[in-house]
Amino acid sequence: MSSFKKDFTDEDDKNIDNKELHGSEAEGLLKEEGNEFDNPVRPASFDEYIGQTKLKKNLLIFINASKKRSAILGHHDLDHLLFFGPPGLGKTTLASIISHELGVNIKITSGPSIEKAGDIAALLSSAGNGDIIFIDEIHRLPKPAAEMLYPAMEDFKLDIIIGEGATAKSIRISLPRFTLIGATTRAGLIPSPLRDRFGFSSRLEYYEPDDLVRIVIRSASLYGIKIDDKAAFEIARRSRGTPRIANRLLRRLRDYMVHLKKDAVDIAVAKFGIESLGIDELGLDANDKLFLRMIIDKFGGGPVGIETIAQAMNDEKDTLEDVVEPYLVSCGFILRTKKGRIATELAYKHFGLTKEDSLF
Ligand SMILES: Nc1ncnc2c1ncn2[C@@H]1O[C@H](COP(=O)(O)OP(=O)(O)O)[C@@H](O)[C@H]1O
Ligand SMILES: [Mg+2]
Repeated sequence: MSSFKKDFTDEDDKNIDNKELHGSEAEGLLKEEGNEFDNPVRPASFDEYIGQTKLKKNLLIFINASKKRSAILGHHDLDHLLFFGPPGLGKTTLASIISHELGVNIKITSGPSIEKAGDIAALLSSAGNGDIIFIDEIHRLPKPAAEMLYPAMEDFKLDIIIGEGATAKSIRISLPRFTLIGATTRAGLIPSPLRDRFGFSSRLEYYEPDDLVRIVIRSASLYGIKIDDKAAFEIARRSRGTPRIANRLLRRLRDYMVHLKKDAVDIAVAKFGIESLGIDELGLDANDKLFLRMIIDKFGGGPVGIETIAQAMNDEKDTLEDVVEPYLVSCGFILRTKKGRIATELAYKHFGLTKEDSLF
């Protein structure tokens, strides 16, 4: 696994997996830590959630309508939601904000930590009416567990087999009215019967630099870091359009600030830090650059299969596909074709090369 992925999960997502927060317990955490999930910069409301305007608008409409209906039903009936897109864009954050907005508990788990159908049964039957069930990396749910979800999502019923052999019988049990929120980096890997049972699904987009500037300034104030606008913009445009990366870069620049004996992150600190970290003009890090150079230098610019690149880089194919490639595609540096990955002219230009340079 690349250090990139490891870094990704360091401070942001600790204590978030398989955690169950109930009313007062969640509030307690909120009070003690300044925010839930031990992350002081994770937005706790839609007001604090910057960017993704279209998605936010839609979600607010659905949430408000379902809250209105709850006056009659006695509970909200928000449909199941699926969020997909590269890591660090705010999927988990949205799930927790939605639970706040609805005033319900959220149960958090992830595809790989659910081993069997029984785990789904236990998870769903322990929910309270209206609770949010958040399944991260939902594309990694084992098949029997995913199949258990189909009737549960549609009819709020579970079919359970009791006994064995000739005496085995199937019984149907009723479940609380839950809302499932699924998140994934790979919507294409979700079986279509599961995908079809979400009432709304949305891709999260990379953030524009302006939005990232606002995120950086907000985070700096929560971390107690002094920063000027120029430095905030420098972070914004070097963060691969990703809030998690922007926040991490901000924390690293705080270290460089101390090292340089300054009392604020200014443009000089930002430039020094970014240079020392090996992040380039467009925010590409060492791993991104290695990926591109591999295609250009070792494989004549492609097409080359992702498995081959992964092997040559000694990295995991999944990480490359989930984390590295989407941003390079969005920059127009690589094309994903049936025959494999191809480095574009633009990628060559980025390194000051031309196509001829990689013809052996
Ligand atoms: N829209 C946003 N506004 C402000 N901060 C954000 C936003 N989206 C994400 N973040 C920050 O980025 C971090 C990563 O977000 P997260 O929801 O964990 O991403 P994902 O689940 O998509 O990997 C969060 O802890 C939060 O601090
Ligand atoms: Mg997440």
